[in-house]
Amino acid sequence: MTVPVIAIDGPTASGKGTVASRVAQALGFHYLDSGALYRLVALAALEAGVEADNVQELVRLARGLAPRFEAGRVWQDGRDLTLAIRREEVGRMASRIAVHAALRAELLRLQRAFRRPPGLVAEGRDMGTVVFPDAKLKVFLTASDEVRAARRYQQLIEQGFTANICDLLADLRARDERDMNRPVAPLKPAEDAYRLDSSALTIDEVVRCVLDRYRGEHTP
Ligand code: DC
Repeated sequence: MTVPVIAIDGPTASGKGTVASRVAQALGFHYLDSGALYRLVALAALEAGVEADNVQELVRLARGLAPRFEAGRVWQDGRDLTLAIRREEVGRMASRIAVHAALRAELLRLQRAFRRPPGLVAEGRDMGTVVFPDAKLKVFLTASDEVRAARRYQQLIEQGFTANICDLLADLRARDERDMNRPVAPLKPAEDAYRLDSSALTIDEVVRCVLDRYRGEHTP
């Protein structure tokens, strides 16, 4: 029997991370934050002085990834990188390196290895279109630019970073633009995706919508 996958894709700061981990928790499923993998490669590249267009080196860095995701924290080589990979600079680099087909191909295996019983909730940009095209439920989660910038601002402040909301707005628009217009695995809803705009909804409401949809369609 195939292991069921719920794919949740959407632009940056649309709330997919929180929603996906809450849905996974409710169903007792595993959880994949695919953006964290791109961020880990981006951080490794920044630390090693590897440029965003050096595909060969980026692929080598990706091959060396053996991250551990535990209780909401991300470990790599014995280092807790949970906060380091959330920095804006790292997110920007992740979006820049994510345009390379060879890097995406290298990360495919790692992402698919998260599919284990009893099920997986995977979030990112291409979970429903490329990585898990046979997902039982595909959700495309959006929110207005302003709402997303405000959420990102709140998140950064809570994590102890300083932030400027106008810079964040400009930055997330630039990142969306790049993620949506790259030739390989661009950010776009799968044809069979359930589209949900979370601008005026609470996290609880979004989680409920996704769970209702999944249970309605997929429980006997
Ligand atoms: O979801 P996030 O903001 O942590 O992702 C950071 C960047 O990684 C995002 O701007 C584009 C890239 N990414 C991707 O191309 N494909 C994914 N499945 C996840 C992230």
